[in-house]
Amino acid sequence: MIAIIPESVEFIIKNGSFKLDQDTSVYADKELNELGNYLREKLTPSTGFKFKEKDLQKNNQIQLKLAKSNWNLSDEGYILKVKNEGVEISAKNSAGIFYGIQTLRQLLPPEIESQKMIKNNEWFISCVEIIDYPRFKWRGFMLDEARHFMGKEIVKKILDLMALHKLNKFHWHLVDDQGWRIEIKKYPKLIEIGSKRKIKTNRGEESNLKDPDFIGGYYNQEELKEIIDYADERFIEVIPEIEMPGHCTAALAAYPELSCTGGPFEVPTKWGIFSDVYCLGKENVYKFLEDVLIEVMEIFPTKIIHIGGDETPKKRWKSCPNCQQKMKELGFDKEEELQVYLTNYFAKFLETHGKRLMGWNEILDPTLSKEAICQFWLGNKRKAAEHMRKGGEVIATNYLQTYLDHSYKIISLRKAYKFEPKFPKVESKFKSKLLGLEAPLWTERVPNLKRLEWQTFPRLTAYAETAWTPKKKKNYKKFKHRLVEFTKRLEFLDVNVAVEKIN
Ligand code: ACM
Ligand code: ZN
Repeated sequence: MIAIIPESVEFIIKNGSFKLDQDTSVYADKELNELGNYLREKLTPSTGFKFKEKDLQKNNQIQLKLAKSNWNLSDEGYILKVKNEGVEISAKNSAGIFYGIQTLRQLLPPEIESQKMIKNNEWFISCVEIIDYPRFKWRGFMLDEARHFMGKEIVKKILDLMALHKLNKFHWHLVDDQGWRIEIKKYPKLIEIGSKRKIKTNRGEESNLKDPDFIGGYYNQEELKEIIDYADERFIEVIPEIEMPGHCTAALAAYPELSCTGGPFEVPTKWGIFSDVYCLGKENVYKFLEDVLIEVMEIFPTKIIHIGGDETPKKRWKSCPNCQQKMKELGFDKEEELQVYLTNYFAKFLETHGKRLMGWNEILDPTLSKEAICQFWLGNKRKAAEHMRKGGEVIATNYLQTYLDHSYKIISLRKAYKFEPKFPKVESKFKSKLLGLEAPLWTERVPNLKRLEWQTFPRLTAYAETAWTPKKKKNYKKFKHRLVEFTKRLEFLDVNVAVEKIN
């Protein structure tokens, strides 16, 4: 059974099939050399075939071709043709070729994903003609590594799985109350102090550090670059999130002078929302955050830097002489205006560095730059609509519909699949400002890979289809049918899929 997820735009099945064998070659245009190698890496372990590089030939070849004349196909679109004599993937850009390869994998039996050689299997591909391109530009997944640090190998596995699903934005939540995970050379205590917390054995946590009383971890800048390159090879943009002005206790534990009270603080072992946040009345806080963002911009090539902005209590600012003094100077009546000030300050700061600010929808304000990207999760949709009318871009990450950390009782697979990103009050001419959707995984209750995968799959598979496939082709019953086959593929990739939740 052919089961492609996300479902392609146009799919025509033809008579006949193409068979991979030890003489099948891969031909890639010069610019596509790396993708030729990527395809070989995908096909060789299970088949044992070498897929030699050969000049363009008529028969028994998989061809990867850039065709600038691929006219009106979108930047990420591709055409895939399987004939009796060979396979051809063509696209305007290499991204399209990459997505064509993901589809080709799925035209082969699930065993193709095996890392062990499978003998005596026949590797047939049905003859088809596929024209395909994405519905949305933003097809995202977010991983929170502040609550539980997963590490490089797990992140790479996730990036590989995202690629299979044609997802293209990896939002990396690297900073929160319970951990600071990104090396900043100018502020070494962020790692020395902020990257670990006391373990809670009653929560089933195990120490992963030399000190048996602590749990944590971090990425040094070399490792971050390695992961960004790995993502880039899979056409995935990595967007780092540096939370401000709240969700920052790990940073305050390292540098308590950045708070209103001066601390001291410990990296918390509890979950929740904490009153201690950055003091917006102190100049050294702005300097600290600028320095951090400068290093972040040096590490991450993306144009988009996420500054969080969610769930910030204003309690400390109310009784802080520095914050009150700042408000007086700026003519503010309400503490809320301090957060607006901070957001606009960093929107401008990032813009002067050629970058764009992104934040959770709490950053929205009539004064916010239209360059800023709003990630809507909870609250007033009308404000998000206002941002779009102004020309601002928005991503849908609705709390009760896309959060992968929710139980399957709260978000069933069906509910995940039925999710449609939309802001009802937006006139159609602004609809293109809705860039797409993102499913986040918050990891308070996700201590390891097994649990991570169980929360994520198959629901992320459902979101991926909404992100890519035209709305009119979405059909839950058919999706479930295809998912059964797709799950076998995920199991060959050693993914702990919550199969019992497919219903
Ligand atoms: C969020 O879930 N606090 C964005
Ligand atoms: Zn203060």
